[in-house]
Amino acid sequence: MLGKLKLGVAVSAVAVSAMFVACNDRAESDAQSKAQAKPAAEVAPAASKSVVVYFSQTGTTKKLAGVLKQAVNADEIELRLVTPYPSTYDSTIAAVGAQRESKQWPALENAKLDLAKYDTVYLGYPIMFGSFAPPIYTFLDSNDLSGKVVVPFCTFGSGGRKVSAAELKTLEPGANVTLAMGVSNKRMSRDDGDSIAKVEVETFLANLAAGKTDEMLMGGYSEQRPLTAEDSAVFAAATKDYAYLQLKPLSVSTQVVAGMNYLFLGTMSGFNRPPAETMVKIFKPLPGRGEPELIELLVVEK
Ligand SMILES: Cc1cc2nc3c(=O)[nH]c(=O)nc-3n(C[C@H](O)[C@H](O)[C@H](O)COP(=O)(O)O)c2cc1C
Repeated sequence: MLGKLKLGVAVSAVAVSAMFVACNDRAESDAQSKAQAKPAAEVAPAASKSVVVYFSQTGTTKKLAGVLKQAVNADEIELRLVTPYPSTYDSTIAAVGAQRESKQWPALENAKLDLAKYDTVYLGYPIMFGSFAPPIYTFLDSNDLSGKVVVPFCTFGSGGRKVSAAELKTLEPGANVTLAMGVSNKRMSRDDGDSIAKVEVETFLANLAAGKTDEMLMGGYSEQRPLTAEDSAVFAAATKDYAYLQLKPLSVSTQVVAGMNYLFLGTMSGFNRPPAETMVKIFKPLPGRGEPELIELLVVEK
């Protein structure tokens, strides 16, 4: 069953990086020979060619951005709203809903950025209404990302990583949009959220450097099979806080890691919507190392 799923193919990060390495070879070797002629103390540190640009409403994406910035030694720019969203969740939902409805994207204090010196833009956002938060539209409208490597990263309640990256690809056809990273708010907010973020970032960067696509990352799973009672118990434990999504698992495939990854295939019918085919990725740690947890929801592409 899983074999029938069409998973989007992301641009190979290795190929993209190789392109930039080739383009910059001559300039870099000129700069290097000049630098070698000077005593070490006079050589200025190399300017970063990467920048982490992000919007964060309640600080979760900001935290992930900080870990990513450290890991890739990038500059960092936080996008700031001229008029911040309201402080409560419900009124933010209303405000974002109105922006999506009208496509009137919110003004940013720093919408237009000087990105000329950067090859790579790590673009971070919370998922709102299934894709990136509205301030990202403002950023995209105000900046030219053509020819740049754009690495999407996000935090979410249950999912939206792949959908948002696909929308970025559509809106920025001239950019090389790579594999996207996403971590759930729940995992980021745990006591060990900082180390979870570090492991997620390290794993993601390794996958990116290896040119892995979502399709390749699904490769290590077994075929979908009917659920056993144990599978159902794992599913129930990991989704107990997501009752509003009305998830119903129908089959599962697994992948042995340090613990077990589960990819449940089933339906979601929350928010009074007709049942939609959905994949639910769950991780069950080794015995005694914690409870099964929902990693992300993935929309099944037809
Ligand atoms: C207005 C609004 C809409 C949201 N929509 C979704 C959604 O569609 N799917 C989802 O998984 N999470 C959704 N969330 C949850 C956020 O993506 C999540 O809490 C995120 O970690 C917040 O990041 P931040 O702290 O950087 O703002 C929404 C949150 C808000 C406030």
